Amino acid sequence: MELKCKVNEADVRADVPARLLLSDFLRHELRLTGTHVGCEMGACGACTVMLDGRAVRSCLTFAVQVDGCALRTVEGLAPDGRMREIHEVFKAHHALQCGFCTPGILMTVTAAMERGELPSTELEIRELLSGSICRCTGYQGIVDAVMALSAGLSVSSRQPSDAAGACSSSPGNGASSTSRSASC
Ligand code: FES
Ligand code: FES
Repeated sequence: MELKCKVNEADVRADVPARLLLSDFLRHELRLTGTHVGCEMGACGACTVMLDGRAVRSCLTFAVQVDGCALRTVEGLAPDGRMREIHEVFKAHHALQCGFCTPGILMTVTAAMERGELPSTELEIRELLSGSICRCTGYQGIVDAVMALSAGLSVSSRQPSDAAGACSSSPGNGASSTSRSASC
């Protein structure tokens, strides 16, 4: 099936099987391996990406379902490879150990930030993060980092992270073929 969407601001066109999961499309077809796959059943949150500004489980979404939509993955938070505030704050608060859960958490928090829905209390932040499992159990550092982000947001109005550089792709030939420009 034909799929057209934007991924990290880049136009993507692909011919994909109807049953291809979005997580597999991102990782295997687009090589955006920052999106991690843990449980593959919607429980761990590692595969979370942003779909039209909302955090969604890419392991519970078929690639064809994002036709016409704008996707953002963890790579899209630092399109030039430079760390942004969210990365710096997570680093400062030691909010990761192995980092497996981190991409999903960053996307969950970014979606909340950009929608102006980042909570401020520890209880609310724990609720926001409740869809993400950290097998290293580094929750306190993660909560501290999000609280720091939230406190910063309360005193200044931040803009969404810089948009990724645009690039285009051409339709692939055959099932599940996809191409993107080298600048992505
Ligand atoms: S891999 Fe998608 S929620 Fe765990
Ligand atoms: S830091 Fe290892 S799974 Fe969360």
